[in-house]
Amino acid sequence: MAILVTGGAGYIGSHTCVELLNSGYEIIVVDNFSNSKPEALKRVSELTKKSFISYEVDLLDHIALENVFRENHIEAVIHFAGLKAVGESVEIPLRYYHNNITGTVLLCELMQKYNVKNLVFSSSATVYGTPKYVPITEDFSLQTTNPYGRTKLMIEEILGDLHLSDNNWSIALLRYFNPIGAHESGRIGEDPNGIPNNLMPYITQVAIGKREHLNIFGNDYDTHDGTGVRDYIHVIDLAKGHLKALEKVMNRTGIDTFNLGTGIGYSVLDVVKSYEKVTSQKIPYKITQRRSGDIGKCYADTTKANKELGWKAIKNLEDMCQDSWRWQKNNPDGYTEEIKELVENHN
Ligand code: NAD
Ligand code: WQD
Repeated sequence: MAILVTGGAGYIGSHTCVELLNSGYEIIVVDNFSNSKPEALKRVSELTKKSFISYEVDLLDHIALENVFRENHIEAVIHFAGLKAVGESVEIPLRYYHNNITGTVLLCELMQKYNVKNLVFSSSATVYGTPKYVPITEDFSLQTTNPYGRTKLMIEEILGDLHLSDNNWSIALLRYFNPIGAHESGRIGEDPNGIPNNLMPYITQVAIGKREHLNIFGNDYDTHDGTGVRDYIHVIDLAKGHLKALEKVMNRTGIDTFNLGTGIGYSVLDVVKSYEKVTSQKIPYKITQRRSGDIGKCYADTTKANKELGWKAIKNLEDMCQDSWRWQKNNPDGYTEEIKELVENHN
């Protein structure tokens, strides 16, 4: 019996694969590598000293995906695969709707056909839009401001309808806040394409000398220092949350939503200071205008996940900065270099 991990080569997926393998689960990975590299999976295997099957398959390729279900005995699915860049989703919305929503519908059709009804889904705090106050509980009203966010919200609704139609389904909707950090080995981490959209990968690229300075998007928010406040969560804590959610879906039927964050809000300047402290180097920055669509404060109330999943994030902001830096220092070009070697070795 195996756990199917869609998008398992990606940032959060690869860290979750490590935790799953270390906890004795058998896993099968499906990824089309549209935003990741096979090298990540090689390193997952190296870190855990365990092998697993991976398929280069697009969720939209129904026939190829059905083969995965036919060839394996799957017990549950952790569904990470999706496109995730907010700005890009505004430019190419149809691609986002097709990839994220159609991909999920096709996956669920096969799950239904093969009677695999345990699902952990990657949702996002983005479904809360501009929250009226903080901390945010799961029962806050939902509203999204961009196509990416709408794909998450629509998928949550689709999964709700699915459970309503057949209450044998067991589903956990996990709303992540801001995942950062990397595995403490420095072997796997976040490997964004091009100019990073998110704060932490941008800071690490400034630190390594790839970018001159950080642009801080506004210092006139209603926060302790005027810069935006977010709930940064270490990717390993987040990965561990998936194992707890998996236990839950395998032991009951129903559908539940959980915030996965630390419950603590840090500002952009707090993150910069913490990063400077752990790396003993200055991060030059300039204050620029607010980024369109940004909100002032966003952090989670994690009581529900604490109580019902028996999960709590334990790593602090310094751990997150330290591990992000180790990953960046050891892999200045992400997974690229070793991929070249791999290709050469195979030729
Ligand atoms: P990621 O891009 O690193 O990983 C997603 C993986 O899915 C990639 O390996 C990509 O190649 C794969 N993929 C995309 N479309 C696919 C398809 N049609 N078929 C097969 N594989 C496909 O992203 P991540 O940061 O690891 O995020 C994982 C999930 O969590 C995503 O659904 C994302 O929307 C969600 N999420 C991420 C964040 C964040 O800040 N990183 C926050 C909230 C929610
Ligand atoms: C964090 C803070 C910025 C970059 C995004 C998505 C969200 C979720 C997580 C997927 C904000 C500031 C950033 C920079 C800056 N992803 N910042 N300079 O916007 O909270 O959330 O990722 O579901 O949907 O919207 O994260 O890391 O982009 O920004 O000043 O170069 O850092 O203004 O205050 P965000 P982020």
